[in-house]
Amino acid sequence: MRILVTGAAGFIGFHTAQKLLDRGDTVIGIDNLNDYYDPALKQARLDQLIRREGFHFYKEDLASPDIVARVFNDEKPDIVVHLAAQPGVRYSLENPHAYIQSNIVGHLNVLEGCRHSDSVQKLVYASSSSVYGGNTKQPFSVDDPVDHPVSLYAATKKSDELMSHCYAHLYGIKAVGLRFFTVYGPWGRPDMATDLFIGAISRGQPIKVFNNGDMRRDFTYIDDVVSGIFGAMDFDMKPDDYGVNHAVYNLGNNRSEDLNDYILEIEKAVGKDAIKDFMPMQPGDVKETYADIDASRRDFGYNPQTPISKGIPKVVAWYQNFYKV
Ligand SMILES: NC(=O)c1ccc[n+]([C@@H]2O[C@H](COP(=O)([O-])OP(=O)(O)OC[C@H]3O[C@@H](n4cnc5c(N)ncnc54)[C@H](O)[C@@H]3O)[C@@H](O)[C@H]2O)c1
Repeated sequence: MRILVTGAAGFIGFHTAQKLLDRGDTVIGIDNLNDYYDPALKQARLDQLIRREGFHFYKEDLASPDIVARVFNDEKPDIVVHLAAQPGVRYSLENPHAYIQSNIVGHLNVLEGCRHSDSVQKLVYASSSSVYGGNTKQPFSVDDPVDHPVSLYAATKKSDELMSHCYAHLYGIKAVGLRFFTVYGPWGRPDMATDLFIGAISRGQPIKVFNNGDMRRDFTYIDDVVSGIFGAMDFDMKPDDYGVNHAVYNLGNNRSEDLNDYILEIEKAVGKDAIKDFMPMQPGDVKETYADIDASRRDFGYNPQTPISKGIPKVVAWYQNFYKV
């Protein structure tokens, strides 16, 4: 199969591309290698991919409609795994336009690419647990209303779901949206808590603990997320009650961990105690996430396998080797 992976130099895109190449697929990667975080890490991931047979890469911006149309036309993908986006809740307060360009304009261009393609059989795209916003009902179910985003990032992801539904309805595109819940793993994002905590604890520096540590997160190990992406790509999708081939699913670990327990696992793996700077809640953040994964389990056999006690030591080992700390 020919799989177009957007955001292939990103954390989740890189792991997805690696596993697709392992199973013999051809992978066409697109990424603009922007500097939201250190592009050297994106380049290091890309260096791993470029040396592999069956990988082609375009360093391009998805916000350009002509370029995206050309890639679809030239490469004729069978499946599109659309993971490129401007991520991060906190940065959306500083640079809102980046979110509209990548997450709205970029997403529309990918939908248009699918619309005009005669090769694409399915689009799988990244949404986020942040669409649940201020939802207080736990765990978060795909049947819960998600009309109360608390960040622009969340609003763009919810918009992606609506746009995808509309394109599935109008043009018969099969589309699956995946709401990821705090993904962590080797080659992870340096702006996320896991890598920030590992780095600071390893170096004996303080870590910022928001909402005075009164937070819970459903942390999902990267291998489980990639297995969920594969499930979403491969399952035989059926139309919904309105005859539309669009559905959204949660990909979480189905466990809500106390932030302090998560920090404790990192302390154990690093072999040092954290110096904690307790801070108030950040605007745009949510206190708790917890994924109900019944629908993804039922429809494509999603079955996360990795508790934080197993996942964290793997990330710490990678981090210390990669960053030489
Ligand atoms: N990591 C998580 O915990 C998490 C949680 C929820 C949702 N998500 C979503 O999953 C997807 C992948 O996230 P990630 O953690 O791998 O992030 P990432 O930042 O590591 O990867 C995204 C990649 O997309 C690229 N990109 C961004 N805008 C682009 C554009 N306009 N054109 C071309 N390339 C562009 C970036 O350069 C980056 O390499 C994103 O859609 C993100 O919103 C991630």
